[in-house]
Amino acid sequence: MADTAMSAGAVAVVLQSVWVMLPAYVPNNLAVVTGGGTPIDFGATWGGQRLLGDGKTWRGFAGGVAGGALLAVLLDAVHATAGATLGVDLVRFGPAPALVLPTGAMLGDVVASFGKRRAGFARGRPVPGLDQLDFVGGALGLAALLVPRWFASALTLPMIVVVVVATPLLHLATNATAYLAGLKDEPY
Ligand code: CTP
Ligand code: MG
Repeated sequence: MADTAMSAGAVAVVLQSVWVMLPAYVPNNLAVVTGGGTPIDFGATWGGQRLLGDGKTWRGFAGGVAGGALLAVLLDAVHATAGATLGVDLVRFGPAPALVLPTGAMLGDVVASFGKRRAGFARGRPVPGLDQLDFVGGALGLAALLVPRWFASALTLPMIVVVVVATPLLHLATNATAYLAGLKDEPY
């Protein structure tokens, strides 16, 4: 009986974690679809390397933020139904976190590319770990900074642990799917 209670609790934490991170998950994948055109760094270089590279574009950034924010609004709209169906308490986003989470995700991605270029890694070269967690760090970091009270009420330590462990797996699975659909050049 204790086992059942424990696993039911674990399932709830996973569901709550995925729910709260969804507006931070989709921007990366949407940027692949909406991206292209003018790079964020406008082609600027530093130390012989691009500042960010052609993989970071304004359209990708804007599309990712807009899509993530829209998703948060949609999740808020179905909040009661989803919570009742899944049998768990789910987070409400509200306008500020709806914007902050995807913005932080895209900023984390930009900061990671900045670091990769400084380390001499070519655009698109995989950096396992960083590639799967840059947007998590960006989203949670910016939320802690800009909407601290929402952050404290929305996320528990077990949820953050689940997010850090489960996100790389989810990310790899979606990227492999995007690769098979011909949307991405690499399967990772
Ligand atoms: N993308 C974009 N603008 C962004 C983020 C992503 O246009 N702000 C698009 C680009 O087409 C990019 C693709 O999404 O190639 C995949 O994103 P990502 O893997 O983050 O970029 P990489 O091409 O791997 O470049 P980097 O090495 O800088 O991460
Ligand atoms: Mg990449």
